[in-house]
Parts: sequence; C-alpha cells; structure tokens
Amino acid sequence: MLNTQITKENLNKLVLTFYTRVLKDKELASFFIEKLGADMKSEIWQKHITLLTDFWYTISHGKGEYKGSPFAPHMQIKGLNKEAL
Ligand code: HEM
Repeated sequence: MLNTQITKENLNKLVLTFYTRVLKDKELASFFIEKLGADMKSEIWQKHITLLTDFWYTISHGKGEYKGSPFAPHMQIKGLNKEAL
C-alpha cells in the first residue's frame, strides 16, 4: 500500500503522529491533557484517536462513520480562543 493513499490505516498513523507531537507542544499540550490526560495509551485517548481517524476519513472521502459535531466540544474548552495561541 502506498503511503500517499488516504486509507483508514494511513490516517490512523497520521493522527497518532500528530497527537504525539501535540502532547510535546508547549502551547497545545495543556488543552488536551486537561481533557484527555497525558497517556496516549489510555482508553480515553484511544477513543479520541479512533474518533479523529473516522473524522478525517469522513472529511476526505465525503462519507464515513463520523457523525459527531466538532464545534460544540471546542466551545467548552476553557481558555481556547485566538488570543490563547
Ligand atoms: C488549538 C486547537 C484545538 C484544540 C486545543 C483542540 C482540542 C480538542 C479536544 C480537547 C477535544 C476533545 C473534546 C472532548 O472530548 O470533549 C477535541 C475534539 C475534537 N477536535 Fe479538536 N482541538 C483543536 C482544533 C481542532 C481542529 C482544527 C479540528 C479539525 C479541523 C479539530 C477536530 C476535532 C474533532 C473532530 C473532535 C471530536 C469532536 C467530537 O466529539 O465529535 N480540532 N479537540
């Protein structure tokens, strides 16, 4: 399989790599640690990674399993606004 193909497997790798870097980022990490904890192996993180893999699959293929609404959860994150970043 080519790494350039948009498959669930490749998106899962991308999402994992992305959040591994996010958890090391001094500005972004705290938002995620507050909500999901610092251990990416935890159940809550595994759910988040699966959810975000489904999200990006659905966005990139125009159909898929993600049926959530991403806006609302972000509105509830304390301190997340354009001034914070
Ligand atoms: C600094 C910017 C961002 C921060 C700090 C952030 C943080 C978070 C956190 C903590 C959650 C978990 C919320 C929860 O479980 O209650 C979440 C969920 C999510 N985020 Fe973000 N996010 C950011 C930007 C984005 C962007 C740019 C996208 C997509 C383009 C995105 C897509 C999503 C999706 C799809 C979910 C799952 C929502 C659901 O429950 O269905 N986020 N985000």
